[in-house]
Amino acid sequence: MTKILHLDSSPRGQHSVSGRLAGEFIGAWQAAHPDDEVVYRNLGRNPISHIDESWIMAAFTPPAQHTPDLTAAIQLSNVLIEELLECDRYVFSIPMYNLSVPSVFKAYIDQIVRVNCTFKVTENGYEGLVNGKKMLVITARGGIYADNSPMADFDFQAPYLRAIFNLIGVTDISFIHADGLSMGEEARDRRLNRVQDEISALLESW
Ligand SMILES: Cc1cc2nc3c(=O)[nH]c(=O)nc-3n(C[C@H](O)[C@H](O)[C@H](O)COP(=O)(O)O)c2cc1C
Repeated sequence: MTKILHLDSSPRGQHSVSGRLAGEFIGAWQAAHPDDEVVYRNLGRNPISHIDESWIMAAFTPPAQHTPDLTAAIQLSNVLIEELLECDRYVFSIPMYNLSVPSVFKAYIDQIVRVNCTFKVTENGYEGLVNGKKMLVITARGGIYADNSPMADFDFQAPYLRAIFNLIGVTDISFIHADGLSMGEEARDRRLNRVQDEISALLESW
């Protein structure tokens, strides 16, 4: 049995393109793999807290020395990291906001990227501790940032996600970009048709 972590990060519910596509992927996946388990969080509708001073103190203090306040401050991070490590595959739907990820998803990243929990620092640099996972990111974007397009250099979303998840050890990452959504109905329909094909192909090969 495979355990999948499914995170949505748009606040737009049924109007969210990224959320709809990820939901379709998960639905089709579950139909083909009924024994698999899906753990779901909607970060867009139920944002998690940002890290704060107590969180940082807790993360850099050995657990045996935690005061009740520090234990409480790091509790959500413990839950999210345990969930991340327990799951085998990740399906994340992430809109592009201001050329990057929505702040709710950044808040999630800040909670799970934690020294000696999801990565460690060695003489050779960072070593990821989240190994053997597969990750699918479905983005939704108003513009187009494909390689060689005029806006390619402005994509701070996919390169950032690849870098930060590589750092914690997740290297098998697939991206599906529902892009060009604000570029007229015809372009939007054309891009969404192409995305449906990409999703169908990935359902076979993932
Ligand atoms: C606050 C905000 C910022 C956005 N910034 C960008 C952007 O920088 N680049 C872009 O291509 N689209 C941008 N968009 C458009 C969204 O990526 C697009 O509407 C997408 O469909 C949102 O995802 P969702 O449909 O899953 O909610 C932005 C939208 C919002 C609401």
